[in-house]
Amino acid sequence: MALVAGALALAVAALGAGDAGPPRRPAYPAKLPPGEGHDATERACLICHSAMLITQQHKDSTAWEKSVRQMETWGAPVAPAEHAAVIGYLTQQFGPAKK
Ligand code: HEC
Repeated sequence: MALVAGALALAVAALGAGDAGPPRRPAYPAKLPPGEGHDATERACLICHSAMLITQQHKDSTAWEKSVRQMETWGAPVAPAEHAAVIGYLTQQFGPAKK
């Protein structure tokens, strides 16, 4: 299965190679990258939606705080003791876009 997906990705990449269209950005990662606070974030945040909804964001800590509070009111199981670690992880990994 992974082999098939890999072959498909290669085929798609080869097809796009000669294309003079606009430059393409790399796809957003579908998994949360490793780091401090990863486990709690993965456990609490991937129940309702994919990681891409998170990995495509760039937010500062205030904005992540707002989003995570919203997710918590919707039922994200973030233990009070984990809350700061989740915000720290998100800000570290998906902070404001760098130029
Ligand atoms: C109870 C289900 C649920 C859980 C658990 C959950 N989310 Fe969400 N999340 C949603 C829904 C529903 C939306 C879409 C809301 C919308 O489109 O307005 C969403 C949208 C988002 C978005 C895009 C909108 C925005 O605010 O930028 C982000 C980022 C996000 N979630 C992050 C998280 C994080 C981080 C966690 C873990 C703390 C989490 N979610 C856990 C239900 C959930």
